[in-house]
Amino acid sequence: MTKNAKLSLDGKEFEIPTIVGSEQEKALDIARLRADTGYITMDPGYVNTGSTMSAITYLDGEKGILRYRGIPIEQLAEKSTFVETSYLLIYGNLPNKTQLQNFSNLLTNHSMIHEDMKNFFDGYPATAHPMAILSSMVCSLSAYYPESLKVNESFEMQIPRLLSKLRTIAAFSYKKSIGHPIMYPQNHLSYCANFLQMMFSVPAEPYEVDEDMVRALNILLILHADHEQNCSTSTVRLVGSSLANLFASISAGICALWGPLHGGANQAVIEMLEEIHTTGTKCSDFIEKVKDKDSSTRLMGFGHRVYKSYDPRAKILKEMTDVILSKRGISDPLLDLAMEMEETALSDPYFVERNLYPNVDFYSGILYKAMGIPVNMFTVMFAIGRLPGWIAHWKEMVDDPQSKIGRPRQIYTGENIRDYIPLDDRV
Ligand code: CMC
Repeated sequence: MTKNAKLSLDGKEFEIPTIVGSEQEKALDIARLRADTGYITMDPGYVNTGSTMSAITYLDGEKGILRYRGIPIEQLAEKSTFVETSYLLIYGNLPNKTQLQNFSNLLTNHSMIHEDMKNFFDGYPATAHPMAILSSMVCSLSAYYPESLKVNESFEMQIPRLLSKLRTIAAFSYKKSIGHPIMYPQNHLSYCANFLQMMFSVPAEPYEVDEDMVRALNILLILHADHEQNCSTSTVRLVGSSLANLFASISAGICALWGPLHGGANQAVIEMLEEIHTTGTKCSDFIEKVKDKDSSTRLMGFGHRVYKSYDPRAKILKEMTDVILSKRGISDPLLDLAMEMEETALSDPYFVERNLYPNVDFYSGILYKAMGIPVNMFTVMFAIGRLPGWIAHWKEMVDDPQSKIGRPRQIYTGENIRDYIPLDDRV
């Protein structure tokens, strides 16, 4: 049975209904607050604000739990593939054999992009960040699928299309940036193998798929696939709430992901570790700098809005990085440095008191590096991984007849009413 909260305000009592989720998460339902009391709530950064009910991902930041559609992330990382996990997130359940085969076929059959779009790549300078290219290209897809503009009539086909093409666009933008010829997708390869082939094969020699790399990529993408109402997913929902088409909504999500406080952190972590390594800075000295409130330095890859214990994704990635590097005979001083930095931070009261632990971005970059993926492509990798989550949230919202356009309020702090002064009379 749900209970009501009581609010006492301006001499009156108001009943505020409560909502309880399937994992006993609790909320005050303030949908009628302004209408009944004249007040709104103020919550910068939405630290306490639930924007939606969602059946996609469950996250308990205190206990370090992450589940997609009820299935623990650890099990998915160990047993699933990225394609299967994408199906799970988007359609709600693990697919049976036929459903999985049909879904994989759709992804295989929609991997090409319109030949005219290849010309777009020529228009960018070689120094262009691939995230800029990715977001523009994804929005441009709506121009090639005009039916996508009628959101309520047709979006089912746009889902496999986008999932498949994002990977192609990402690989093409990398090839362009290094001056290599674009390598087309090959239908006999799995989703991840195909991506690696488009990234690393060249026309001059045959390409051999490395199954260890394929598995590592599957796990990396699964770990990034959804994280409930994070900044980019909330952006996708907010843009999509105006009934903007799927491509436009995802393009906005890609831009939100780009920032160094969100998905851009994986690039920032490697740049930070490289600088510490090159300058020979001691971990303890760097930690002192991070703690100094006058220096705007943060330990990138540490801390999280919702995790107040070890991020379960970081735990899997840390172990996997170690395994992949030793399997490939790579000795990366940045891994040793990252581990030393983690140890130094976790034994410092500043980090302990604030519950700051490594997040998913702390180790992912070292792994991407070992796979030969260049640093400026790291956030693109995050985007490929997060895409099924964005799509699942966009679909959940579009399918929900109760959805409303997102439109927060504000408390105005500007000037009170005053008259317009003609230019000649102004001081
Ligand atoms: N290094 C040093 N201090 C930190 C850090 C950090 N990485 N993160 C948080 N703090 C401190 C912060 O200064 C504040 O201290 P105080 O209470 O003395 O003012 C306290 O911890 C709380 O931090 P906050 O900024 O209020 O926390 P938030 O929830 O607003 O920010 C965050 C979360 C992820 C933006 C932040 O922890 C951060 O900037 N981390 C580094 C960037 C990063 O790794 N981002 C990737 C996040 S995981 C991938 C994803 O899903 O996006």
